[in-house]
Amino acid sequence: MEHTRRNRIVDLLKSKSYGSEVLVKGWVRTKRGNKNINFIALNDGSVVHHIQVVVEVAAYPEDLLKLITTGSCIAVKGILVESVGQEQHVEIQAREIEVYGTADAESYPLQKKGHSLEFLREIAHLRPRTNTFGAVLRIRHAMAFAIHQYFNDQGFYYLHAPIITGSDAEGAGAMFRVSTLDDKNPPLLPGGHVDYSQDFFGKETKLTVSGQLEAELGAMALSLVYTFGPTFRAENSNTPRHLAEFWMIEPEMAFYDIHDDMDLAEDFLKYLIRYALGHCLDDLEFLNKMYDNELISRLKQVVDEKFERLTYTEAVEILKASGQTWEYPVDWGTDLQAEHERYLVEKHFGRPVILTGYPKDIKAFYMKMNEDGKTVRAMDVLFPKIGEIIGGSQREENLEALMKRIHEMNIPEKDVWWYLDTRKFGTAPHAGFGLGFERLILFVTGMANIRDVIPFPRTPKNAEF
Ligand code: 4AD
Ligand code: MG
Repeated sequence: MEHTRRNRIVDLLKSKSYGSEVLVKGWVRTKRGNKNINFIALNDGSVVHHIQVVVEVAAYPEDLLKLITTGSCIAVKGILVESVGQEQHVEIQAREIEVYGTADAESYPLQKKGHSLEFLREIAHLRPRTNTFGAVLRIRHAMAFAIHQYFNDQGFYYLHAPIITGSDAEGAGAMFRVSTLDDKNPPLLPGGHVDYSQDFFGKETKLTVSGQLEAELGAMALSLVYTFGPTFRAENSNTPRHLAEFWMIEPEMAFYDIHDDMDLAEDFLKYLIRYALGHCLDDLEFLNKMYDNELISRLKQVVDEKFERLTYTEAVEILKASGQTWEYPVDWGTDLQAEHERYLVEKHFGRPVILTGYPKDIKAFYMKMNEDGKTVRAMDVLFPKIGEIIGGSQREENLEALMKRIHEMNIPEKDVWWYLDTRKFGTAPHAGFGLGFERLILFVTGMANIRDVIPFPRTPKNAEF
C-alpha cells in the first residue's frame, strides 16, 4: 500500500465527506458476514467506537481474508460512505487491505468479549486493546492534560521534584530503598549495619513518598508551584484504593492560608470533572452504560454542589451519634477510615466533604498548629465512593514552632536542615495539598479498583509488566 496519511477513526466517525478516499489502520475487534460480504469492526484507540469496514469477498484472495481475525492489525484503504446500519452513520467500502499482524484465534486472549477485570489484570500487556481500558486510558490522558492546563492558567509553575530522595522526613509511608551496593555482600559498619557512605549517593536513599517538601522550596521563590510525578509507598495495603506506585499532584502556594487552600482544592477538582464531562463524554457514556449507571449524574452533582466543610471534631461527633457499627471504632484522636469517610459523604451529607482541624498526633510534623494546641490546620477532601481524594494543610512557617514539632516527633535535624532554612530566610505563610491522580481517575471513570485505572499497577507481589 502506498504511503498516505492515516485517518483517525475518531475523525472519520464525525465526518460527512462521503465518497472520499480514506486510509485507516487499527486492530480488528470482530469480523462477521457471509460468503459474499464481510463486515470488520476496526478500532485504532482514538475513540471507543469502531468503524465498520465492508469487504466484498470476491475482490480479495481467500488467503488474505482468512488472516483477518479478532486481534489482528490491518490497514484499509477505501471509500467513506453513508451507512444504512443502525449502529453508525458512516462506514468504509474497502478497496485495498494489508495485514500487518495476525492474531491466532486459538491463543489470542481477547478472542471473546466480556472478560472479567480480574482476568484482564493478568494480561495487563494486552488490556489496552479492550473498550474499557481504551476509555480509561483516554480519560487518564485528558485529566493529566487538564491538570497542567488548570495550573498554567492560574499562574502556577510546574516543578519537578526528585524521585530519588535522601530524606524520609515526610513520614507519609514506608519507603523503597534505592541502592547499587552488592546485595549479597554489602560493606558493613563495625556494628553490623550497612555502610551507605559507600553507596552510589554516599548516603542511604529511597524512592520519594511525596514531592511536597521540595515543592515548598519552590513556592518560597516562585510563589505558586505544583509537582506532578510518581510517588512510592511500600505499605502492604492491599485495598482497592492503594497502589505502591501512584502519581500525585502537589500544588504549593506562598501566601495561602488553610481557607485559600480549601478553595483551590474545591475549584481544581470541579474544573477537572467539568473538563472530563466536556471532553470525554463518549468514554464516560460507555463506562456509565457498562459499569456504573450513576457515573455521569454523580460527576454532574459534584460539579454543581458546594463541598461541605466541617472540623474533624464535628465529624467524630456525627459518626459517634450515627448508630452505625464500624469495623474500626471512632473516637476523638483516631484516624478516620474509609468507612467513616464514606458514611459522612454518602449517607450523612450526600456531597463531597472537606474536613479540617485534625488532631496533631495523626498528622505530619509540618502542619500548622491551631490555637488550641491540639489540632492542626490540615484538610482532607472526601469524595463519594473514594473517601480521601486530597490531603493537604497550611504549613508551619514559624521556625520555633516547627523546631518544637520536629523534636517532639524525633525527626533528626540533620535530615531537614535545608527545609528549616526556608523558615530561617524569608519565611512566609503557605499551604498546599496532594491529589492522588489514580483516586481522581477512579472517581471520574467510576471504576471500582485502583488497579484498573493505571496502565501497569504496582501492588504487593505484583510487578510483572
Ligand atoms: O494524604 P497524603 O499522604 O499527603 C501527602 O503526601 C502530602 N505530602 C500532600 C501535600 O500536602 N502536598 O497523600 C495525598 C493523596 C491522598 O489524599 C490520596 O489521594 C493519594 O495521595 N494517596 C494514594 N493514592 C494511591 N495509593 C496510595 N497508596 C496513596 N496514598 C495516598
Ligand atoms: Mg492523607
